[in-house]
Amino acid sequence: MHVVITGASRGVGAALKAAYEAEGHKVTGTSRTGGDGLVALDVSDAGSIRAMADALGDAPVDLLVCNAGVYLDKGHALDDGYPAEMWAEQLAVNVTGPFLCVQALLPNLRAAGGKVAIISSQMGSSTLATGNALIYRASKAAALNLGMNLAAALKEDGVAVGIYHPGWVQTDMGGASAAITPEESAGGLIERFAVLTPETTGCFETWNGRAHAI
Ligand SMILES: NC(=O)c1ccc[n+]([C@@H]2O[C@H](COP(=O)([O-])OP(=O)(O)OC[C@H]3O[C@@H](n4cnc5c(N)ncnc54)[C@H](OP(=O)(O)O)[C@@H]3O)[C@@H](O)[C@H]2O)c1
Repeated sequence: MHVVITGASRGVGAALKAAYEAEGHKVTGTSRTGGDGLVALDVSDAGSIRAMADALGDAPVDLLVCNAGVYLDKGHALDDGYPAEMWAEQLAVNVTGPFLCVQALLPNLRAAGGKVAIISSQMGSSTLATGNALIYRASKAAALNLGMNLAAALKEDGVAVGIYHPGWVQTDMGGASAAITPEESAGGLIERFAVLTPETTGCFETWNGRAHAI
């Protein structure tokens, strides 16, 4: 299997890459700077996404994991936080990025009858609107909505799309006191990706297999 994982330099993406490689799969992992066996990719830059797709050529892609993400508005205050530039950057990375990556790799995904996994978050669920992290929550809600619409759009092509909450994970983003390790998250996600089919396309699931409210 050929797996493409965005944001594979650390955290959940790096653990996914290591686990797939340990199983003998070919992984194309990306980071913003590249190097160390990773392809350079900034998902907020359409030209960078095009260059990554050009480098892959017509290689079939069995699984694209749109994992790269940022959480920039942690702790922002409603009265004077959440600046416009932060909205633009976070939506570019967390929403436009996954869309452009899927779009650029459509021929590769169709060639393999492949699957797409969008890493959203439970913070994108409208049932958990707690009034903080407004940009991050809006971006992950949009990523969830994007995944559901891509699932519908790609159903006829046989390309299944799943949307996932990876758990609260001990990464740079999740912090040291988070509930699970990147390896636990990756192990659970890999099981979920394996059972994603055209029948379950559009699902929103947690890393440990629970259907999540939208
Ligand atoms: N950790 C959690 O508790 C948690 C919970 C729910 C959802 N999530 C989601 O899970 C995913 C992975 O999170 P994580 O905790 O592993 O985060 P992380 O440790 O902060 O790693 C983020 C990854 O995204 C990459 N990235 C950031 N901006 C990018 C850009 N503009 N273009 C390309 N790559 C970029 C980073 O690459 P560089 O090394 O190049 O910066 C890095 O590989 C994210 O989508 C996140 O929102 C995480």
